[in-house]
Amino acid sequence: MKELISKKVDKMQPSGIRAFFDLVLGMKDVISLGVGEPDFVTPWPIREAGIYSLEQGFTSYTSNKGLYKLRLGLSRYLEIRHGLKYSPDDEMLITVGVSEGLDLALRAVINPGDKVLIPIPSYVSYGPVTELAGGVPIYIDTRPDGFKLTTKTLKKYLEKKPKAIILNYPTNPTGVSYTRKELSEFNKILLKHKVLCIVDEVYGDLTYDFEHTPFATLPGARNNTVYLDGFSKSYAMTGWRIGFACGPKEIIAAMTKIHQYTIMCVPITSQMAACEALVSGRKSVEEMKREYKRRRELVVSGLNDLGLICSKPEGAFYAFPSLKKIGMKSMQFSKELLQKQKVAVVPGTAFGCDYDDYIRISYASSLENLKEALSRMREFLKGI
Ligand SMILES: Cc1ncc(COP(=O)(O)O)c(C=O)c1O
Repeated sequence: MKELISKKVDKMQPSGIRAFFDLVLGMKDVISLGVGEPDFVTPWPIREAGIYSLEQGFTSYTSNKGLYKLRLGLSRYLEIRHGLKYSPDDEMLITVGVSEGLDLALRAVINPGDKVLIPIPSYVSYGPVTELAGGVPIYIDTRPDGFKLTTKTLKKYLEKKPKAIILNYPTNPTGVSYTRKELSEFNKILLKHKVLCIVDEVYGDLTYDFEHTPFATLPGARNNTVYLDGFSKSYAMTGWRIGFACGPKEIIAAMTKIHQYTIMCVPITSQMAACEALVSGRKSVEEMKREYKRRRELVVSGLNDLGLICSKPEGAFYAFPSLKKIGMKSMQFSKELLQKQKVAVVPGTAFGCDYDDYIRISYASSLENLKEALSRMREFLKGI
């Protein structure tokens, strides 16, 4: 059977996060700080809009690009909130989450062998999706600079003549984000070297200490950026599978072609719910953000007290503490913590073998759970 599998797919590693979480399945009383999704349910008015759309009989396909009403709503929202102007007619596409947007963007622009820069540690899909598109991922290890990409490093990697870079901020798994000034420097360099910026801003709304800057708002960036965002994280809508892509119309047209033949359109129920999210959802986003911020304070100080040194994440809902002081490697730490204290975290190796001295902790879990998890971790550490 194995010979039937494409060589490209055969050599691809399954997600390290999923592999570890198969261990958690079937265990009772586990506090899971593993999966990267909000513990909140989608706010009620958004759920109600989805239900109501079904009651009204909206069960058909939509335009491939997505409901015009949703594209228009998003276009207005982006203009009012960020001063970003995208035409709902030909510069926007509704996608099955940022995941599909990323896949489409890469497949739309990559020719076999094109190089794509990926600062790491990163969201686990970037490398595999680049390879599936025929591209060659070039990983930039950001650890020497406190998990931040610097202009110096970026310039160095441009010598490899990449076609594109995938930027993600706030970053999964480190929570690192960038100020407008830092992003402006990246932008100038990318424009100068004609490197396309594919930017994943799915955690943009969850930026805690300064304003999030959409990359496309930087001078001259709009025509060199594929802007990917979605409803999964900020509106607690992971299961609805809805996101959007904005960009130059030629790129959006190319992405739409692939989307047309593979997906057709995002489910209409999710699109109707997303329309409501834009109308009434902002209040809930702000409330959830406040709650994540409270949790961040608890988790970061709790982890540092335990000797799991971590800096304060500027966004998203992850902490990425170091195990160096503990002297244990990430897989052993995560397995033993799970077995002995029933707390699940993600070993750093899920983000590449270089991150074996780190674990990822998601604080998208109640304060109560987080307090209990920290106290179980304290017990665990006493015993090693
Ligand atoms: C950085 C990042 N991008 C994209 C995704 C997937 O987003 P979506 O649900 O919109 O496909 C995730 C999910 O964890 C993520 O962490």
